[in-house]
Formats: sequence, C-alpha cells, structure tokens
Amino acid sequence: MSSLGQLVAGVAHEINNPVSFIYGNLEPAQEYIENLFSLLDLYQRYYPQSVQEIEEFTALIELDFLKSDLPKLFKSMKMGVERIQGIVLSLRTFSRLDEAEMKAVDIHEGIDSTIMIVQSRLLATGKRPKIEVLKEYGKLPLVECYAQQINQVFLNILLNAIDALEDSVVKGRWTTKKQLVMDNPRIYIRTQLSALNQVTIRIGDNGVGIPENAKKQIFNPFFTTKPVGKGTGMGLAISHQITTERHRGSIECISQPGIGTEFVIRIPLIQ
Ligand SMILES: Nc1ncnc2c1ncn2[C@@H]1O[C@H](COP(=O)(O)OP(=O)(O)O)[C@@H](O)[C@H]1O
Ligand SMILES: [Mg+2]
Repeated sequence: MSSLGQLVAGVAHEINNPVSFIYGNLEPAQEYIENLFSLLDLYQRYYPQSVQEIEEFTALIELDFLKSDLPKLFKSMKMGVERIQGIVLSLRTFSRLDEAEMKAVDIHEGIDSTIMIVQSRLLATGKRPKIEVLKEYGKLPLVECYAQQINQVFLNILLNAIDALEDSVVKGRWTTKKQLVMDNPRIYIRTQLSALNQVTIRIGDNGVGIPENAKKQIFNPFFTTKPVGKGTGMGLAISHQITTERHRGSIECISQPGIGTEFVIRIPLIQ
C-alpha cells in the first residue's frame, strides 16, 4: 500500500503542475480575448463600411455567436480545472497519510472541532429546517491515534451525512412549512468504550440512505453518486484507509434506503 501511496502522490504531483499552468493562464487568456473583441467593436464603429471579404468571413465564423459563447466556454474550462484540482487534493490527502504524528488524544475534542468546521452547512435554509446534531458521548479515555487523520474521517462522514440530508430535501422531505418534530433532519454521534480496548464511534443520519447495490462500492476510490463537480468519491476510500490500515480499526456502514445511514468506526485505544 505504501508504494501505491507513493505512486499516487507522484502522479498527483505531476498533474498538479500542468493544471496550475492552465488555471493560471485561463483568466489572462479570457482578458486578452475580451480586449481583442473590444478592438473589433472599435473597428466596426469607426469603419462601418467594411469590405466584402471581411463581411463574408464575419458571417462564416458566426462572430455574434462566438462572442456570446466564449465566456461560457471559459467558465466550463475553469470548472473542469477546479474539479481536477479537487481530485488532486484528495489524492494527496489519500497518499500522504503518514505525515502527522501519533499521540493520545481526546476523541470528543476532535469530533467537536469537526462539527465546528461544518457548522455553516447545518443552519436552516429557505428549503429546510436546521440540521440538528445530537451528541451522546460516553466516558472515553485518551485514544492513541493520528488525530488529524481521524478528524478527516469524521469530517468526511459528516459531510456525507449533510449531503444525504440535503438530498432528502430535494426529494421532498422536510419542507419549511411542514415541520414534523419527530422527523427533522438529524445527525447523531454516539461514542462508547467497547470491550477489547477499543472505542466505537457511531455517526448516523436520517437522510436518503444507501441502496444495497451502491453499499458494496462506497469504500471504493472514485465511487460517487453525486453530480459532477460535487463529489470526488474519495471521502470514504480515504476514511477506510485511515481507520483500517493506519489505525488497525474498522469502519462499517449500516443503511436503509429512505430511513437513514449509520457509520460505525472502531479504533483500538493503543496502537
Ligand atoms: N450518509 C450517507 N447517506 C447516503 N449515501 C451516502 C452516505 N455516505 C456516503 N454515501 C454514498 O457513498 C458515496 C461515496 O462517498 P464518498 O467516498 O464520501 O464520496 P463523495 O461524497 O465524493 O461522493 C456517496 O456518493 C454516496 O452515494
Ligand atoms: Mg464524501
């Protein structure tokens, strides 16, 4: 796995440079072209009587359409490059898992700080009530782990839970008008010290759930059911690698379509 990690890191690095060239040049390129268009406009204004060859060529290249289409073209190129950058970033996280050091940490602190990060996505929107986060923390000793990585796992799972709840909104659940107290968008986080000297962390949501055929694939790199530009399909693959390989723990998914999803993470107290 570590040689695969090295390969991935290498590839990510190689992709990153040329992509930066493209990204860095898109904006000036657009500006240059807009300037050339302005120059054309000036010519048209001061030399309205043009020659037939110019008229014909203008019609041939459909200048008006070209002018209106070009900004859209740039926008989609920019989106494409941003997507590549997102994937490269995920690949780097995926392959550079051994950078931070191992120490004994308070898991609850990690969870709380991660909730802080996603706070803005929990707020009520015009389309749904706020997402409630219910915490049931057990009494836990410090856990020896790579804190940064474990937090990354919490973050990936929380973000997926929020996405799943948003998806439920799209599918007609939880309008702001009809607020059933029993069925508001909700995420719960339960922790407990389990036998075998390990901690168990359960993160669940009452979102769309995962169909059986997708459930087999969710931990595969690049598996995503989200629209292009939204998901990279790397979140759970990274989380799986962190929990199982880096920490000799486990991660498991329990889900019922239409009801909700729960991820169960188990990490040994001592590595
Ligand atoms: N809490 C959840 N509820 C419903 N589906 C989920 C949940 N978590 C993960 N999934 C499914 O697993 C897929 C893979 O997740 P992930 O690896 O994080 O990639 P991404 O979020 O970029 O799609 C998601 O596209 C989604 O279909
Ligand atoms: Mg995700």
